[in-house]
Amino acid sequence: MKIKNICCIGAGYVGGPTMAVIAQKCPHIKVTVVDINEARINAWNDNDLTKLPVFEPGLDKIVKEARGRNLFFSTDIEKAIDEAEMIFISVNTPTKTYGKGKGMAADLKFIELCARQIAKVSKQDKIVVEKSTLPVRTASAIKNILDHTGNGVQFQILSNPEFLAEGTAVDDLLSPDRILVGGDTTQEGQNAIQALVDIYKNWVPSEKILTTNVWSSELSKLTANAFLAQRVSSINAMSEICEKTGADINEVARAIGMDSRIGPKFLKASVGFGGSCFQKDILNLVYIAKSYGLNEVADYWEQVVLINEHQKQRFSDYIVSKLYNTVSGKKITFLGWAFKKDTNDTRESAAIKIADNLLSEQAYISVFDPKVSEDRIYADLDYLNSRSSKENRELLKVNKEPYEACNNSHAIAVLTEWDEFQTYDWEKIYKQMNKPAFVFDGRGVLDIKTLEKIGFICYRIGSGTKL
Ligand code: UDX
Ligand code: ADP
Repeated sequence: MKIKNICCIGAGYVGGPTMAVIAQKCPHIKVTVVDINEARINAWNDNDLTKLPVFEPGLDKIVKEARGRNLFFSTDIEKAIDEAEMIFISVNTPTKTYGKGKGMAADLKFIELCARQIAKVSKQDKIVVEKSTLPVRTASAIKNILDHTGNGVQFQILSNPEFLAEGTAVDDLLSPDRILVGGDTTQEGQNAIQALVDIYKNWVPSEKILTTNVWSSELSKLTANAFLAQRVSSINAMSEICEKTGADINEVARAIGMDSRIGPKFLKASVGFGGSCFQKDILNLVYIAKSYGLNEVADYWEQVVLINEHQKQRFSDYIVSKLYNTVSGKKITFLGWAFKKDTNDTRESAAIKIADNLLSEQAYISVFDPKVSEDRIYADLDYLNSRSSKENRELLKVNKEPYEACNNSHAIAVLTEWDEFQTYDWEKIYKQMNKPAFVFDGRGVLDIKTLEKIGFICYRIGSGTKL
């Protein structure tokens, strides 16, 4: 089957960039990305490319090239579904906040709504591709809904997990480590797999395209994220030992990373991992394990999340303890709010929890992040319900300029590893601050020796240097 029309439901961090790259690489295919969120679609259609709802290095160029040619963003979901031979589901699947599995299982209501809408609209056979991170066996639930529409339309469900990381999404999409496509073992299933493989073959070498059954594909995605998050929690757990013993986590990471069995990537100690996937996927895995009675397996993976919570907590505790056990009435500057550099995404960012802890200790916070909007920062805080939104706005200010954010501050906490932080005039910053002036580098990105020479009292995550 040759695909000429693709529809993608969900114009978020995954759907937007993925479809932009497919459209760029396959000019013969019409790609329509749809969303219920009209503001988001309008932003994707904005002539001013700095207003795209997702910031990713290189994405603006690709959108500019393909948009209006064979890439379209629309709120007319039914029309796009009807036209397409292949439909990607790329909607959000947050952790459930209610009922059975609350705080653990993935909330599939958005997925189910999509399946029902596809079932309602479709008049011809279609291939439906799961792109969101989903619990194992979701495909069979989607299939069940689609197969019981009674209008004779045949659906093939594929799992095609997305492995892109935010901040490097465009590069990850253009040169992926691998593409994974899971489908039914029947002839129809194999044909559907081939149709999707043919799309990727337009730019990905064949040996990097793996095909498997649906369940292995779904579980591979959860497993990859669990392994990656586990590496971060492992290095973060060691960072605490380093601080107690006088070792340095960067040295330890370098030494172990040269072991070819371990490898050098994903060994950067931090104030804790964030992002929309790691915690959600692990909790999902824990929920699946528990539901099969595999309690030891569940406990093993849950510990990865618990260490991450601990890392955030101990960072804010440390700030309070070093500022003479009280931050009440003191101004603390946050450099960075995004969960990592080169993205405007803040989901599960460590900064949110650390701000909440420090605000509970009656600190004043000023935030500077090069890409995150003021509205987003307040929305993140308000969502916690720890205090009224009025109080959040009184206690936390968002600055558009880093030097202003540091003015009169007692301490700076580096919470995102934005490159530009290294280029600041730190002498100028020092002069503007209350003395003693502290820097708490939760990302290990600043040149601590230089800062100490200027006069700052410094702490770097995972470094044995004592204050
Ligand atoms: C992750 C997976 O990498 C990606 O394959 C999957 O599709 C989605 O989830 P993402 O969350 O976008 O991607 O970013 P990632 O680079 O994995 O970082 C996740 C978090 O871990 C960030 O907060 C990052 O700062 C942190 N991290 C990562 C560390 O603290 N140390 C490291 O060494 C690596
Ligand atoms: P991800 O990081 O997985 O891409 P996002 O939250 O960035 O997650 O994007 C998911 C998008 O899916 C949102 O823009 C949301 O409005 C959209 N969405 C959710 N449910 C539906 C639906 N039933 N139909 C169309 N769009 C949907």
